Amino acid sequence: MKMRPPQSKLVTVVGARPQFIKAAAVTPALKAAELSEVLVHTGQHYDWEMSASFFRGFNLPEPHYNLEVGSASHGAQTGRMLEAIESVLNKEKPGAVLVYGDTNSTLAGALAAAKLNIPIAHVEAGLRSFDREMPEEVNRVVADHLSSLLFAPTANAVENLRAEGITKGVIRTGDVMFDLFLANRKIFSSLADEVLSKYSARTGEYLLVTVHRAENTDKKAYWTGIREGISRLADDGARIIWPAHPRTRPLLEKFSGKRVTVTPPLPYLETQVLVSHAKAVLTDSGGLQKEAAFHGTPCVVLRDGTEWVELVEGGFAVLAGHDSDKIVKMVSKRRKFDMCAIKKVFGSGRSSVSISMALIREFFGKGHA
Ligand code: UD1
Repeated sequence: MKMRPPQSKLVTVVGARPQFIKAAAVTPALKAAELSEVLVHTGQHYDWEMSASFFRGFNLPEPHYNLEVGSASHGAQTGRMLEAIESVLNKEKPGAVLVYGDTNSTLAGALAAAKLNIPIAHVEAGLRSFDREMPEEVNRVVADHLSSLLFAPTANAVENLRAEGITKGVIRTGDVMFDLFLANRKIFSSLADEVLSKYSARTGEYLLVTVHRAENTDKKAYWTGIREGISRLADDGARIIWPAHPRTRPLLEKFSGKRVTVTPPLPYLETQVLVSHAKAVLTDSGGLQKEAAFHGTPCVVLRDGTEWVELVEGGFAVLAGHDSDKIVKMVSKRRKFDMCAIKKVFGSGRSSVSISMALIREFFGKGHA
């Protein structure tokens, strides 16, 4: 094996919970490929339940840098990240920067790298809601247009990029969260009894609810519709388990009751067990929509649209928005599990390996065996 040049160093920028989950799939593949990864945590998410619990739970290495930017307005938060990431990049001089998804940390990582002419690779490229009011849409459009390698999880993501004139550097890899799901499937089963008894929950007899999108928590009419829908389901006898994102926690203070259990944000494995055994998942999270489909649990999306259009087209998820009638009506019975259909959309569990191989090929080829 030849020695790699010193610049075969990759800086990965993460900052928010879904990025720690995706890194849990990709980081081990990078390690297996002997790529040297410098992990930068912007500090966008900082509560134990939103951050450290994932690093511990996944045995992720401690980040080399924690920029501790914390919460602020979008401009201030992104600005603080940009300055701090720039100084890390100037010090580390990596051969490429890897970013995930669509958060302010993604945007800052991509912008900082672009300004220093360091090539960018984007995991989960090509997703679109076509709604520029969403901060995530702005972040992902900018990140995609700045990236040299675009890891698109699905055929639809590839098509979205093509429609914006981006074809060079686009690789359809499959979905890294599906990799993680497949790798941990046996563990979910082994933990089922313990987790269900912790929440006094029984298979198929509760609804798992999460809400964190700014439009759903901050627009009064949206929140009212969602709250009414969930309240009606509880009044009709449904048991509700609701892990509350920090943004939503204050809104749920008066919501806990006999039939509604509000919990702190939960670790990955516990969440997967609860998704797997729920009658249905009601959520505005993109990640949970997918995970519900992986487990064969019906999903009611608390948004008017979704970036994961394949889920709706394939009958894995339905869109209810914030309309309380639709929310109540759309909670359906369990459907037959169709793993073949899921694999057709999300790959076969080797997305992270494809990503690490492409990174080596594209940026670190010389000197690599
Ligand atoms: C961010 C992402 C969103 C992603 C989500 C996953 C952006 C624009 N949005 O949204 O795409 O789906 O992460 O959770 O980047 N807070 C805490 N503790 C924490 C983190 C946040 O209390 O550890 C509170 C703060 O009051 C903060 C609010 O939650 O103002 C929102 O956090 P923020 O990082 O702005 O965005 P998210 O809503 O988490």
